[in-house]
Amino acid sequence: MTGPPSAVSEGEGLDPREVTPPPVILRFSATERGFHWSIALPTLVLLLSGLFLRFGSLQTMMVGYDRQVGLRLHLVAGVALLFGPLLVALLGNRRALAEAARTLLRMEREDRRFLRDLPRWLRNDPGAGGEVGRFNGGQKLNTLVSGLTLLVAAATGFILWVSPPLPDPATGALPVLTAWLATLHEATTYILLPVVAGHLFMALVHPRTRESLRGILFGIVDADWARRHHPRWYREVAPEGAGERKPPGESTTPPGDHASSRRPEPPPGCSGTVTPRSSPAAARRGAGQQAAERGAGRPPPRPPP
Ligand code: HEM
Repeated sequence: MTGPPSAVSEGEGLDPREVTPPPVILRFSATERGFHWSIALPTLVLLLSGLFLRFGSLQTMMVGYDRQVGLRLHLVAGVALLFGPLLVALLGNRRALAEAARTLLRMEREDRRFLRDLPRWLRNDPGAGGEVGRFNGGQKLNTLVSGLTLLVAAATGFILWVSPPLPDPATGALPVLTAWLATLHEATTYILLPVVAGHLFMALVHPRTRESLRGILFGIVDADWARRHHPRWYREVAPEGAGERKPPGESTTPPGDHASSRRPEPPPGCSGTVTPRSSPAAARRGAGQQAAERGAGRPPPRPPP
């Protein structure tokens, strides 16, 4: 798993105060992260408990499995999925959430191009993908499919909860409507499973996107990673030339990139501040990173002598 931000090796002969960690950029605000986890955790519990409820073979594999407990766990996770995100939205920065949702649900030309390039992109072809913004086409498609599927799962699950599909005492048959709802509810699991598995693969395994895990856990990501994988977003939010791995003394502005000089205000909930690299100013470290580190629950670093 990606370590905490700016973890500096304190190897022999190295004065930790002189080692400048790679610059980082704020990718997700606390509200955005809270919102993600308020959906992700109940969804994972729902998927697992649902599979156990459905497949007797799984139940027999788990020592001490109790169907009643499994069912209650499933219902509690369903309620958490309903109220958790609502609570985060009520207490947090709703403007940032709305902005992120708008970005995620807007499929642009570049996103369609990304989807066409996806097989090459997955094989790490450096030319594939194009000018990705804050989210790529795959992430947008993931949001759309998992969002819609979760809505259908929640609606059908709620109806089944309040009016369970009890078999007719005379015929033993389920009422047609509830039987149909139960099938639809079950089908949402089979849609979500591969989608979530793909999402987990990208977050935990694929080398190209693994860095994003740090973003969803601590809020920040390596600025150079953000520049390479989300170049359009990076240009909108990062200070000019920041986050590029170049030897000291060289210009850090990419050829042809002057967008930063007409950079708009960072989007709500995303300061986009980047810690510059080994310069005297970097040694003092930017307020942006200190803020990001505070956001990530770390104390601010010691000032240099
Ligand atoms: C342990 C489980 C999970 C992990 C480690 C995880 C990880 C991540 C990460 C790293 C991102 C940020 C990607 C970026 O930098 O843009 C993200 C975004 C997101 N996650 Fe999760 N996630 C998990 C479970 C889920 C579940 C269960 C759902 C819902 C079904 C979900 C839905 C989303 C959505 C909609 C986004 C924004 C779009 C995207 O990046 O695909 N996540 N997740």
